[in-house]
Amino acid sequence: MLAIRLVREPERLDTLVLPVRPVGPDRPPALVPTASPPGDDVRAEATALLPAARLTGAAGEVREHLRPGGTPARLVLLGVGDGDEHGWRTAGAALARAAKDETYVTVALPADAAEALRGLVEGLLLGSYRFRLTEAGGTPALAEVDVVVRDPDGLAPTLAAARTTAEMTRLARDLTNTPSSTKNPGWFAAQVEAAAADRPDLHLRVRGPEELAAEGFGGILAVGGGSASGPRLVELDWRPADARTHVVLVGKGITFDTGGISIKPVPAMKLMRKDMAGAAAVVAATLGAAALRLPVRITTLAPLAENMVSGSAFRPGDIIRHYGGLTSESTNSDAEGRLVLADALAYAERELRPDLLVDLATLTGANAVALGKRHGALYSENDQLAADLLAAIGAAGERAWRMPLPTDYVEYLGSDVADLHSSPDPAKSITAALFLREFTGDLRDRWVHVDMSAPSWSEDVHGELTRGATGWGVRGLLRWLATLG
Ligand code: BES
Ligand code: MN
Ligand code: ZN
Repeated sequence: MLAIRLVREPERLDTLVLPVRPVGPDRPPALVPTASPPGDDVRAEATALLPAARLTGAAGEVREHLRPGGTPARLVLLGVGDGDEHGWRTAGAALARAAKDETYVTVALPADAAEALRGLVEGLLLGSYRFRLTEAGGTPALAEVDVVVRDPDGLAPTLAAARTTAEMTRLARDLTNTPSSTKNPGWFAAQVEAAAADRPDLHLRVRGPEELAAEGFGGILAVGGGSASGPRLVELDWRPADARTHVVLVGKGITFDTGGISIKPVPAMKLMRKDMAGAAAVVAATLGAAALRLPVRITTLAPLAENMVSGSAFRPGDIIRHYGGLTSESTNSDAEGRLVLADALAYAERELRPDLLVDLATLTGANAVALGKRHGALYSENDQLAADLLAAIGAAGERAWRMPLPTDYVEYLGSDVADLHSSPDPAKSITAALFLREFTGDLRDRWVHVDMSAPSWSEDVHGELTRGATGWGVRGLLRWLATLG
């Protein structure tokens, strides 16, 4: 992975990146004043280039200019838009791609560098991400970036936060991109174990099929029952001594979703290895919180199962007894995510008794129908909690939109034979959220659910997103967790 260093003075100046920003319509952009300005001659030359460079200064624009025999030998003009964190994140990703033939560049940052640094580092590390099993799209050559700032020591924590955020997002992308032939529930749990090893403050418990049966996790067992690879429940606990708030994070971990007996058609099934993106995001965010030693207790639950078609698969019409005793009638085995989440939410509410409860799940195709490819659907009864999370998600460069929990839609959850009907037809993302809410007990108004099936995957390169898994949720969760304590 890319090595990023903070330096006060440029060393071995070879390629120098100078930020530019828009000035106004039909006018060339302006150079952004930087902490350690290049020599006056270089700055004057860059300024003289701007009218001819056909740049607007929009975030992500890149122009390279050769200076034969000069130091630096190359100038890169980099559009940073408004120069805020978002602009720099987009710029960093564009730089990682554009500098595909450079191995080493020096970037000059503005004097007030914290936001710019955070954006630049995340953009560089996320824009250069490639899933390790494939060379699709080529691998950027950029290996070293020196960032020139006035106060390298003072900015070290900002660099650490940005690097950890990006590394954990990359971990979530790796887990989600991994083919399901490798990624069964046991494999996922082993990855968490490896990542959590050597951290004495992180506690891990993995329940297998027997323990799940002994404790009554009927939803996880039903969904996992059709697979030759048995289900697991990962419980990962970050317990710093100075924590005052306890958050439980829950993530849907279906390592492949065939739909089960209610089997999916080919186009709908082809990407279902991503159906554990919620579990990947909450695990990665928790590992990130531990790496940054955030003073908040986090217990993360990842119910893991493979939803397969087989002689031992659960059937439409089955009645499932969830953890804690509530029963649900399932008429569509493709609505499996809420069944495993219900167990985990009920367990969190009854046994862990946290202050706040948040779940992330690739729960419905309806998320994309309602909001398109890049927004998660966020549900909560708690206005303050919803606002805080939406703000953190937005600040981190992710997007979500709040959706309603209409009281009168609860009637769709009625069943003649069980406490709840798990797969009603209308308003699929909303009724899934209402179903989950039934398992939150007295945490009902301190709970947030995010249906993130749409933004968990990207069909194209877009800013800091590469094709495939996006790691959606890691950045927003880490931002939000950093505000608690
Ligand atoms: N994993 C899917 C949801 C999904 C769809 C994620 C498309 C990503 C992209 C989920 O388990 C599912 O199949 N949901 C059904 C629910 C329905 C049967 C009530 C859906 O969305 O159609
Ligand atoms: Mn499904
Ligand atoms: Zn699913």
